[in-house]
Amino acid sequence: MSGVFDLAGKRALVTGASSGLGEHFARFLAAAGAEVLVAARRRERLDTLVADLRWQGATARALELDVTNAASIDAALAELRGVGGIDVLVNNAGVSIAKPALEQAEQDWDAVLDTNLKGCWSMATAVARQMVALGRPGSIINIASILGERVAGGVAPYAVSKAGVLQLTRALALELARHGIRVNALAPGYISTELNQDFLASDAGQRLLSRIPQRRFATPEDLRGALLLLASDAGRSITGATLAVDGGHLISSL
Ligand code: NAI
Repeated sequence: MSGVFDLAGKRALVTGASSGLGEHFARFLAAAGAEVLVAARRRERLDTLVADLRWQGATARALELDVTNAASIDAALAELRGVGGIDVLVNNAGVSIAKPALEQAEQDWDAVLDTNLKGCWSMATAVARQMVALGRPGSIINIASILGERVAGGVAPYAVSKAGVLQLTRALALELARHGIRVNALAPGYISTELNQDFLASDAGQRLLSRIPQRRFATPEDLRGALLLLASDAGRSITGATLAVDGGHLISSL
């Protein structure tokens, strides 16, 4: 039974893996037996992660990738083709620019939409094209956010980008099912990490907490089950879905 979540023999690519959740996702996938390719713009941080993963017995390699740059994506895809393609793509790279809507400039909008939505589309379609060409079906997991379904102050471009990711997920799932490619979204709520723990402990953070039905912030480890479900054969009939991991935040009382 437990074998159904096993990723042995699968090759997975995680974008934006040089820090934060992407690094956790790469570690979870490696612990489940996958060979991992960690991709991001900062090569040195990737090299450190790869060394650590290898030390733990995983097969891992680094890939330099800027998801907003077509030439960079082409080069990464050529490298993937060289190793025989991948089975799992975790489209995790993302940015947020928090400012009141009337202070967001055009370049803020472009930066957030180009990375979070266009970057996600570019990677998903490039990888899917390669999966079809190689006859190697797989799973694409788009990291969205509960802000794709609800709104909060100061993050209009981010919320719009993540709403787009959810609809992109459904549209691609519909068209790619015939090729054996599943496309799903994982929508984390507010995740407690070392980067935001001061904010989460502040009065504003505690007010946020009081609106989460479970009254706790999820941790990166809490995303592991959803990630493995979507990546592995355990989720073979799941496509076009959005899986929220948010302690019930999305269904909080109005
Ligand atoms: P982070 O800032 O630690 O990680 C984002 C990663 O994406 C970084 O490694 C960054 O270098 C990379 N990245 C940014 N632009 C890139 C580009 N053009 N090409 C390649 N890589 C690029 O942030 P975090 O929190 O780990 O976020 C990861 C994902 O999870 C994002 O998509 C974010 O929107 C999503 N998310 C995070 C939540 C949280 O509470 N931390 C909640 C909901 C969603």
